[in-house]
Amino acid sequence: MSTQATTSAPPSGHDIATEEFPADRRRPRMQGKVVFVTGGSRGIGAAICRSFAEQGAVVAAGYSRDAERAQGLLTELQEHGVEASVHQGNVGSADDCRRAVGEVLEAHGRLDVLVNNAGITSDKTVAKMTDEDWYKVIAVNLSGAFFMSQAALEHMIERGTGRIINISSIIGEIGNIGQANYAASKSGLFGLTKTLAREACYQLAKGGKLTEDTIGVTVNTVAPGFIATDMLATVPEKVLDGIKAQIPVRRLGRPDDIARVVHFLASDYASFITGQVWGVNGGQEM
Ligand code: NAI
Repeated sequence: MSTQATTSAPPSGHDIATEEFPADRRRPRMQGKVVFVTGGSRGIGAAICRSFAEQGAVVAAGYSRDAERAQGLLTELQEHGVEASVHQGNVGSADDCRRAVGEVLEAHGRLDVLVNNAGITSDKTVAKMTDEDWYKVIAVNLSGAFFMSQAALEHMIERGTGRIINISSIIGEIGNIGQANYAASKSGLFGLTKTLAREACYQLAKGGKLTEDTIGVTVNTVAPGFIATDMLATVPEKVLDGIKAQIPVRRLGRPDDIARVVHFLASDYASFITGQVWGVNGGQEM
């Protein structure tokens, strides 16, 4: 039987059809990989943390204010034997981003996967939007992803492997009344993703680390549709019914729907996918 390492990609140049079937199909795909999820204490971020933990990853979760919730997640993961840590910081601060990435490297010795999930809304029509509404949403949702990625990439390029996954939104693709700041921040992630993806490959090639067999450094974006989390808690039932009517599969998404795609993109098997935007929206945008 094949003794292929638990997380290695199919070797290039092999005829896959003639490979022996893996001995253990239930093997954890992320064994020993260190994953840092910003805004990991609740909602989509917590689902992503749990999904990685189930697959054997070491999980570092970022949070901004709710220390109790973060501690709760940490205890839950540790009770299940998961190596985990939580890291407080405001991703709207470049210094906090650099410090948090440094903390994760210090605690776990490496960083394989960064998920830029932390995000906020501050909804108002353009006419009513204040300077602060605009700047704070851009700072957290877009600049936060940039500064986190900048710090993580340095380490990933040096090691020659890594994954960055940005959590955008369907609103970045289609816009929304009252969300000029949010929509701009979320479509900003598309350009950021593509540029980071190109630069990562460029830097690897320059350093002679872009070989046929490497899992490389990839950067992708997941753009969720409407997902049932705290972020939608303030949306009135009637409005939610209206939203569901526009979704071909006729339901809101679940945090797990997003976690599964993130998980796939983070795996070694996704090494030929970079600079892409993955819509996960029940067909609302197509
Ligand atoms: P949520 O509000 O439940 O969680 C947001 C997380 O971000 C929290 O853990 C919070 O602590 C963290 N956070 C907020 N500001 C922060 C800051 N300044 N520094 C560090 N962490 C900060 O939201 P949800 O729904 O789980 O959303 C997660 C991501 O998914 C966000 O980027 C959001 O824009 C995106 N998204 C959500 C959708 C939804 O329908 N729930 C739809 C499309 C995208």
